[in-house]
Amino acid sequence: MDAVRPLRVAVVGMSYWGPNLARNFDRIEGSELAWACDLDTSLLDRHRAAFPRTGFTTDLDEVLADPDTDAVVIATPVPTHAALALRAIAAGKHVFVEKPLALTAADARAVAEAADAAGVTCMVDHLLVLHPGVTKVKELVDTGHLGQVHYLYGNRLNLGIVRKDENALWSLGPHDISVMMHLVGEPAVEVSATGACYLQEGVEDVVFGRILFASGVIGHLHLSWLDPHKMRRMTVIGSERMVVFDDMESERKITVYDKGPVPRTGDYGEYIQVRSGDIFSPKIDSAEPLRLVCQHFLDSIRDGTAPVADGWAGLATVEVLEAMDTSLANGGRPITLEGASR
Ligand SMILES: NC(=O)c1ccc[n+]([C@@H]2O[C@H](COP(=O)([O-])OP(=O)(O)OC[C@H]3O[C@@H](n4cnc5c(N)ncnc54)[C@H](O)[C@@H]3O)[C@@H](O)[C@H]2O)c1
Repeated sequence: MDAVRPLRVAVVGMSYWGPNLARNFDRIEGSELAWACDLDTSLLDRHRAAFPRTGFTTDLDEVLADPDTDAVVIATPVPTHAALALRAIAAGKHVFVEKPLALTAADARAVAEAADAAGVTCMVDHLLVLHPGVTKVKELVDTGHLGQVHYLYGNRLNLGIVRKDENALWSLGPHDISVMMHLVGEPAVEVSATGACYLQEGVEDVVFGRILFASGVIGHLHLSWLDPHKMRRMTVIGSERMVVFDDMESERKITVYDKGPVPRTGDYGEYIQVRSGDIFSPKIDSAEPLRLVCQHFLDSIRDGTAPVADGWAGLATVEVLEAMDTSLANGGRPITLEGASR
């Protein structure tokens, strides 16, 4: 049997997050870390010993000119994502872009369109969409186990990391927005957001966002880096059952509550009764979500299939972020979305 040639991957941006991606692409069977690229030579020097078979460079053009490099992973600051992704696509490389895909919907659309036109795979690191806990929640939603989804809400809170160049919405929101869009599976038609800046002028530390989906499902976000709690939680309320995905739990990440209203049988039910049944916690695969994401990118390239978080999904999330930002700047005014990202 012919050995399958490993896919050769370059990681651009080797500061905080890039090395995690580099480690995974270096270790996953079927891929090789061909290049590590950063403008800062001290960062390259820090990682040379860990990746002895990898080329190190400050020059992205050197990476893009290498015909043996199949894919480029972009882990640079958000304002650079779209331009670097477009350069990589123009060089015929598959691209994996950190979240959010871009700072504007127009830029995100340009990347999604360019990838389609070039016939390359484009994936956005909507990490949680491939988290085994979210996969379980999706299964509970799609099989009807929860009944009809009424509403869902996410809490992403911590003390820090306080960012200077982006607010809590852009820093924390892509995770919850991408998960909500994945779970509900419908376009967002209207969003609004309120928030406040306590630590730096013009940079919201806390944001409360609302998404209205096409069928009337409501999503609510509470995002903050100024909070005593460390919470990474998503709760989905269905007509039959309710489920909580709590990523801070090590073992019990998913809890299903068999709770809900008792169906009214006659016309005389003045009192709406509620039912409080079993609570159970299904077993969740303990695989590292980032490894699953990297593996999914490689599989999508090999199979020629669209990744679950492709450029268009990246655009849909950026459209919600952009509209929420507009709402934030306008005292929480609802912003209507076209509802179709393509
Ligand atoms: N998925 C997640 O959970 C997660 C977590 C953290 C960060 N991130 C994302 O990862 C990305 C990087 O985050 P970070 O905290 O490591 O950022 P950072 O600002 O600390 O580092 C970015 C690095 O990119 C390098 N860089 C910038 N332009 C470059 C260019 N043209 N060529 C080569 N190198 C260049 C910089 O020198 C810097 O070292 C961001 O998009 C962030 O949103 C994602």
